[in-house]
Amino acid sequence: MISKVRKAVFPAAGLGTRFLPATKASPKEMLPLVDKPIIQYGVEEALHSGIQNMIIVTGRGKSAIEDHFDVSFELEHTLEMKGKKDMLAAVRSISDMIDVSYVRQKEALGLGHAVLRSRELVGNEPFCVVLADDVIDSEVPCIRQLLDVYEFYGASVVALMEVPKELISAYGVVDAEPVPHNGSQNRLYRIRNLVEKPKPEDAPSNLAIIGRYILTPEIFDSIEAVGPGAIGEIQLTDGLRHLLRSRPIYGYRFEGTRHDAGDKLGFLKATVEFALQRKDLGEPFREYLKGLKL
Ligand code: G1P
Repeated sequence: MISKVRKAVFPAAGLGTRFLPATKASPKEMLPLVDKPIIQYGVEEALHSGIQNMIIVTGRGKSAIEDHFDVSFELEHTLEMKGKKDMLAAVRSISDMIDVSYVRQKEALGLGHAVLRSRELVGNEPFCVVLADDVIDSEVPCIRQLLDVYEFYGASVVALMEVPKELISAYGVVDAEPVPHNGSQNRLYRIRNLVEKPKPEDAPSNLAIIGRYILTPEIFDSIEAVGPGAIGEIQLTDGLRHLLRSRPIYGYRFEGTRHDAGDKLGFLKATVEFALQRKDLGEPFREYLKGLKL
C-alpha cells in the first residue's frame, strides 16, 4: 500500500538577499505577483494537487505570512459591510480550504535543515516540499504531475528541468537514466546521483532540480546523516544522495513553465506573464505593452 501524500512543507525562513531592499522588513514570500503573494501560488498548487495540510517553516520577520493565511476579522467585516462580495470571497477562499501549521527555523542553515525542522509535524508519512520562489505555470499542477509518479512507484520524486550549462551552477543537478513512462521516453528518470551547485565542468547533466519534491519520510534520517555541503549549508540534495544508497529516487521533467520569482528579472517576467493571462487585466495590459517604444 502506497501512503497518500497529505502534507506540503514550505521552507520560508530564507533572508531573501537577492531581493533587497524590498525584503529588508517584509518576507520575499509575500512579494505580490500581480495581486497574490508568491507563496500563495505554491499553496494553491498544492491544494489543486489534493494536499490540504500546509506546513510553513518560517524565521524571524515572517509574521506577515502567518497573518496572510489567517482569518482577518476586521478586513472581512469591513468588506461585508461595504457589500464587496468578490473581494470577500478572494480573501476568504484560501484560508477556508487549507489547514496551516508553522514551525520556526531559528537559523538559516540551509534547505536540508529547514526540511528537517518539519519532522515532528510531518511524522512518519510521505510529504511534498515546495520552494515558493519557483512559481510554476502549468495546465496540470506540477505537484500533481510528481504525485502521479509517486503513486506509481512509491518512491521519492524530484521535479527536473533542462538548464543551459552556463546557469547550471545555481542548481542541484542529477545524473539520471531515462525510464519509459506513460508512452514518453524522456520525462521520467531514475536518478543515479545528485550534486548541489556543481561547477559547469563538473555538472553530471543539464537536468536541474526545481523546487518541488515528493519525499518519503526516510529523508529525515538521511538529512541528519549529512554535514554542511555547498556554500556551507545543510543541503537537501546531499540528503537525497544519502537516501539513494537505500532507496530509489525518480526525477520527472514536468510539463509547464517555471519562473524564478526570487530573482528580480524572473519576478518581472512572471509578473508580465501572469498579468497577460488575467481576464480583468490581460487586454488593457497587452495594449499598454504594445504602445511601449522598445
Ligand atoms: C535550491 C536547491 C537546489 C535547487 C533550487 C531550485 O537552491 O538547493 O538544489 O536546484 O533550489 O530552485 P537555492 O535556489 O535555494 O539556492
